[in-house]
Amino acid sequence: KGAFDSSSEKTFAMIKPDAYLNIGKIISMIFQAGFKINKMKMSRFTEDTAGIFYGEHKGKHFYPTLVDFVTSDVCVGLELVRENAILAWRELLGPTNTQRAKEEAPESIRAQFGSDGTRNACHGSDSPASAERELGIFFGSDSVMPSTSLQNNCTC
Ligand code: TYD
Ligand code: MG
Repeated sequence: KGAFDSSSEKTFAMIKPDAYLNIGKIISMIFQAGFKINKMKMSRFTEDTAGIFYGEHKGKHFYPTLVDFVTSDVCVGLELVRENAILAWRELLGPTNTQRAKEEAPESIRAQFGSDGTRNACHGSDSPASAERELGIFFGSDSVMPSTSLQNNCTC
């Protein structure tokens, strides 16, 4: 089965500011795991947009640190397509906390490229609804150069 037939799923992946220099290795891991990259865009969150993106975490103790971090520099957002993309990408990410990732999943992206509980290299949507919402936030508004998709009949 190819990545573009009816069993394909899409997810939102994001390379956070701490992992920008490792983007090449991360993209290699994405392709090696059988994902297609359907969209990719570099952008910087404002505090307001970060607040929308991470709205479910408002009021939690780590929220201010998280927003400071994610607005500190550019992020690279990707629309990934694969069978079971949401779970497969979360699996490749490893546990949220980098220390736990190093212990439990040393080959994972967060183990290799993260540094602590907040600076954990990459984001991944946790459900189809989150994927739709997050893809909409990151790719929804284009200006002069619209982001484009692969022109090969993606059914997602
Ligand atoms: P969360 O959605 O729980 O994790 P995940 O990214 O694995 O879905 O949290 C969102 C981000 O918030 C997480 O990637 C890093 C940050 N965070 C902290 O800084 N401290 C924490 O204790 C937690 C749980 C998350
Ligand atoms: Mg989450």
